[in-house]
Amino acid sequence: MTKTVTAKAHTNIALVKYWGKKDANLMLPQNGSISLTLDHFYTQTSVSFDQPGATDQIYFDDQLMPAEKADRIIKFLDLVRAQSGLTATATVKTWNHVPTSAGLASSASGFAALAGAASRASGLNLDDRALSRLARRGSGSATRSIFGGFVEWHAGHDDASSYAEPLQDPVDWDIQMIAVVLKATQKPISSTAGMARVVATSPYYPAWVTTANQDLVRMRQAIADRDFNQLGQIAETNAMRMHALNLSAEPAFNYFNADTLTAIQTVENLRADGINCYYTLDAGPNVKIICQSHDTTAIKTALQAHFKAEQLIVAQPGPGMTITENN
Ligand code: PMV
Repeated sequence: MTKTVTAKAHTNIALVKYWGKKDANLMLPQNGSISLTLDHFYTQTSVSFDQPGATDQIYFDDQLMPAEKADRIIKFLDLVRAQSGLTATATVKTWNHVPTSAGLASSASGFAALAGAASRASGLNLDDRALSRLARRGSGSATRSIFGGFVEWHAGHDDASSYAEPLQDPVDWDIQMIAVVLKATQKPISSTAGMARVVATSPYYPAWVTTANQDLVRMRQAIADRDFNQLGQIAETNAMRMHALNLSAEPAFNYFNADTLTAIQTVENLRADGINCYYTLDAGPNVKIICQSHDTTAIKTALQAHFKAEQLIVAQPGPGMTITENN
């Protein structure tokens, strides 16, 4: 009898970023990365290999996805079929609990949940490391969303050596993020194309790899020491160096809009006023503010001079992926 397996995975925000592949097919990154999994944003996905038809049926928030949009998911299911020896096609139902068009790395939670649900539904019983390697094939940042808390993805040199593992979970000290959700604009360039362009054209790319590797060592120490300011400073500098790659590519590109710069300025002003908070940015305009819970009110108040209360979402460290089976 075919079984339906449901998995839930949370998104994560990188503190030391992955930005560039050394093998696009295997999704091997140029450098390792460290992230924090968040409680507020997650994806829930159910999979059963029960289709009599020739094609996988993918439902996204209860809507059947057109085949051309589902291409990346179908390719991922092909990997699961190859590993398990199954030939049946699947029904996939996925719900994203990420605010509409927030652009908060839904591919991380999405492919982590799909890796968990599809592998188990196919009869595979993968351990967390193997799940992390499988999720990596869907989206780089998904490698880390198998785990909760602080997570490190080891770059590795082949499929077996490129996986994530927890650095600290649960997180037993005060650290959180406030996501500033800005108006969704069309991405100037996808993360896949952006990464390929910076690796090929930014003269600063080799310096990025060198400094990112140094950041990994310092970030591991900051997490072990529970040193909030050290963690925030390293994360903020690392994020801006990632964006400096984009500004130095040919042709140059960036993910900022005017509101992004306003949010950055607000964080800098708060810091000048003695409130410890730091920002990080990914492949989109949203700003994530790394802060501590006792400063939440002051930070939200300052941001509300420019943004609506509903644009500000406070997220705490979140858990790893979970799987449930219904026969
Ligand atoms: O998961 P991808 O391939 O879409 O890459 C996302 C990369 C960043 O979010 C910008 C950084 C990171 O390490 O998550």
